[in-house]
Amino acid sequence: MTKELTVLGIETSCDETAASVVRGLAPGPGRILSNIVASQIAAHRPYGGVVPEIAARAHVEILEETVERALAEAGLKIDDLDGIAATAGPGLIGGVAVGLTAAKGLALASGKPLVALNHLEAHALTARLTHGVPFPFLLLLVSGGHCQLLICEGVGRFTRMGTTIDDAAGEAFDKTAKLLGLGFPGGPAVEDAARTGNAKRYRFPRPLADAAGFDFSFSGLKTAVRRVADSVDFDDRIVSDIAASFQAAVVEVLAGRTRKAMRAVREMDLNIHHVVVAGGVAANESLSRLLCAAAADEGFELVVPPGRLCTDNGAMVAWAGLERIQLGLIDSLSAVARARWPLDRRSESVAGAKA
Ligand SMILES: Nc1ncnc2c1ncn2[C@@H]1O[C@H](COP(=O)(O)OP(=O)(O)OP(=O)(O)O)[C@@H](O)[C@H]1O
Ligand SMILES: [Mg+2]
Repeated sequence: MTKELTVLGIETSCDETAASVVRGLAPGPGRILSNIVASQIAAHRPYGGVVPEIAARAHVEILEETVERALAEAGLKIDDLDGIAATAGPGLIGGVAVGLTAAKGLALASGKPLVALNHLEAHALTARLTHGVPFPFLLLLVSGGHCQLLICEGVGRFTRMGTTIDDAAGEAFDKTAKLLGLGFPGGPAVEDAARTGNAKRYRFPRPLADAAGFDFSFSGLKTAVRRVADSVDFDDRIVSDIAASFQAAVVEVLAGRTRKAMRAVREMDLNIHHVVVAGGVAANESLSRLLCAAAADEGFELVVPPGRLCTDNGAMVAWAGLERIQLGLIDSLSAVARARWPLDRRSESVAGAKA
């Protein structure tokens, strides 16, 4: 196929109502013709986290306008599109249903193909939209709900090497921010506070750092942070030092595990030369710095998409939809919204597996 495709992407799985039009052809890079992200942060801030009911209602209220803006900014009409993609899971089921139902309506009315997409695949393929990274690649997926190391062999073809056994990396940032009174969303707030802090002041644990395999654990770290936080009187200095010490622990663990995974895939001779970071925590600069050094040491090329494409957005959904449409992987109008949906087939069969 040589003709470029143009696809609308709709994202409503958490607290961003997002729509985007992307044009291109796999393996990328593609062009983002519009990328509208209507954040609900202000609506959730009083509660210190995302409230599913409020999120779903906000998606209903603002999605139509967001899609219209995305099309207008791209200078296109529905008829100009080659397809419509929407996140169909995993995520907050009310919000996912809003976006998926809207996409079905648009697909039905226009006769365009529908892609009911795994949100994690959208995060995973962002590095192809931005940098045209070829398959296969090693993927560190670090977001609000996930923390995984995967080998990405192709569209829909993921093998999980490791995952968190408790909290996700972004969740750890969010909980620490709450504990330190830094507000919501937590990741950027902790990173900001950490900039002026002394990362050596508190020696927090590096959970599972020396364990076999590639799994992660952050709940012990969370407890250690809470213990220190409970034992001191907060001032700006202490908050910055705790934030910096916490961040150092998380990014060291993430980069250390990823370095180990790079060595493992090299030994497996899988022809993998790229390591990609995806999900909201990929926006963390101190993580990128450590990963950059690890990749250089191990002879891998590191690809970190820009921050606005690492947190939830419609462009990643449009791009992943575009790749699927290019391969003829179209979904029917009876596709369902899924709260849980693991990326790799192996864990899909494991009862109770974290998505
Ligand atoms: N600069 C940063 N440093 C650390 N964490 C960050 C940064 N920016 C965002 N995050 C974290 O990223 C997460 C949001 O990422 P994302 O939008 O990909 O997650 P999600 O969509 O809620 O979860 P999932 O993709 O797993 O369903 C939040 O937990 C947020 O705190
Ligand atoms: Mg996400």
